[in-house]
Amino acid sequence: MKIDQGKGSMKKDISNLGMNLSARRLNRILSILFSEMKDLSDEDRDLPIRWNVIHMYTSSQIAKILALKRGIDPELAGIAAALHDIGVVKTKRHKNHAEAAERYVYEIIESYNSKHRGDLPQITKEEAELIVNAIVQHSQKEIISDNPFVEILKDVDSLDRYLHGVKTEGTHRERCIKVLKELGIEENLINRTKKVSY
Ligand SMILES: [Fe+2]
Repeated sequence: MKIDQGKGSMKKDISNLGMNLSARRLNRILSILFSEMKDLSDEDRDLPIRWNVIHMYTSSQIAKILALKRGIDPELAGIAAALHDIGVVKTKRHKNHAEAAERYVYEIIESYNSKHRGDLPQITKEEAELIVNAIVQHSQKEIISDNPFVEILKDVDSLDRYLHGVKTEGTHRERCIKVLKELGIEENLINRTKKVSY
């Protein structure tokens, strides 16, 4: 590995850093979401908007790592993770946010395809359905799905919350232990976490 510390190296086009990993559509989706979220107020929200912003970015990164490990498309897993709590953002409520997300996910994908994608590829109808299907089911952590995109989103949500210090119990905890083991990490989750404050 060669590290270029020469003059002007900070100005290099960073789009080549990903090399084989395609993340350009995901990055554009994240930009759309961030623009929509950055000026929202916390008033009358179940969760502060800064939590949604942080959780959106970190979940999408974890989704890519786990997808690479599991041999599924990292960008699609990342897009599903980026969008998975849009129901909380749009309705301000945590209750039933997964089911409520469907129309908002389709709206954002439509806005990406028609307005924001520039020369990037479309998100196809099949891809959109796969993403929506994973998102609407992601709250049912106790159900093990045979769809790898549904499963990965549930695992990512549980692990990301844990890594932010959110109290992790029940099926969230079981999923965290399972995923950490999958990554070769033996972690004792008991008594390590408490209520998060952001
Ligand atoms: Fe989440």
